[in-house]
Amino acid sequence: MAEFYSLKVADIYKETEDTSVVTFDIPQDLQNTFKFRQGQHLTLKEEINGEDIRRSYSLCSSPIENQWKVAVKQIPGGKFSTYINQKLQAGNQIEVMAPTGNFGVEVQPKASKNYLFFAAGSGITPVLSMIKAHLKAEPNSTCKLFYVNKTAKSIIFKEELEQLRNTYFGRLEIYYFLTKERRDIELFNGRFDDVKMKVLTNTFIDIPDTSEVFLCGPEAMVNYVSEYLIGAGLSKDLIHYELFVTGLSEEDIKRAERLAQQNVEGIEVTIVDGGKEFAFTMTKEYDNILDAALNAGADLPFACKGGVCSTCKCEVKEGEVEMKINYALDDKEVSQNLVLSCQAVPTTEKVVVDFDV
Ligand code: FES
Repeated sequence: MAEFYSLKVADIYKETEDTSVVTFDIPQDLQNTFKFRQGQHLTLKEEINGEDIRRSYSLCSSPIENQWKVAVKQIPGGKFSTYINQKLQAGNQIEVMAPTGNFGVEVQPKASKNYLFFAAGSGITPVLSMIKAHLKAEPNSTCKLFYVNKTAKSIIFKEELEQLRNTYFGRLEIYYFLTKERRDIELFNGRFDDVKMKVLTNTFIDIPDTSEVFLCGPEAMVNYVSEYLIGAGLSKDLIHYELFVTGLSEEDIKRAERLAQQNVEGIEVTIVDGGKEFAFTMTKEYDNILDAALNAGADLPFACKGGVCSTCKCEVKEGEVEMKINYALDDKEVSQNLVLSCQAVPTTEKVVVDFDV
């Protein structure tokens, strides 16, 4: 069930000129439902000009703080981010879905791990949650953050990061990179490239001693840094990422176009959700399972409808589907028959998908 809860905004403030941080008040009876792991996100819903709009935002607070906070950066022309940044006020109610998402790993109090984080702009939000959780709960672990922003003024959570660096002196290293402001040390000017990565992997990063790497930012940055680290000897299994998608690759465009031509009319789809079954027949108006099911009256969870957030994830129990775009599920999840229903085009005459995953 796509269950939303009406939550009160306890606080909202401007972290930078174009980013607001929203704190939700979670009533006692919902605290269990809203329990989360660092790296997870909340899906928010609001009717804006008569349109049901949903967006997912990573929690920037850590579970240990017992606070539920998200940071929302204003996107030019973005309906939801404009609403949050310009209209939402403390005391308002807003519809919020319980936390979801797989980004992040469990904290292990006895672990002595060395975590690396690469973030760009608002990609800091899940990363901040993880840094706080691992430093607090794992006294023998260390964190290194490589963080790209346009200017010094636009660095989101700079003050909180500096406080963390002081609190966990020697266990948290932070390196800021600026793309639209020049500083004396050339290494810290501009985006990650071969020159910078070579210096980082020769001086600041000890590849054999790295336990996990988390990347959050634009697809180009995430792919580039991942590939560089793998090339430098890091195991692919240790790399975890969350993307901002800014454009589709040639391959994605071709696959999405091919699947859009697929004839889905007449395909029988059965949805299992909340232990109940809902069956309908695909028509040619919608090629993906999520839109077709919503149109047929199902109440299913979704947010981005762009293959990025994984809110619409389900498991294929019978039949086959192909995804147009997948920026959310990793290879392991795909091998477990998980698919993003907003991108899933049925390719067999009968398909059964289970949302209770
Ligand atoms: S709704 Fe976000 S991936 Fe499907």
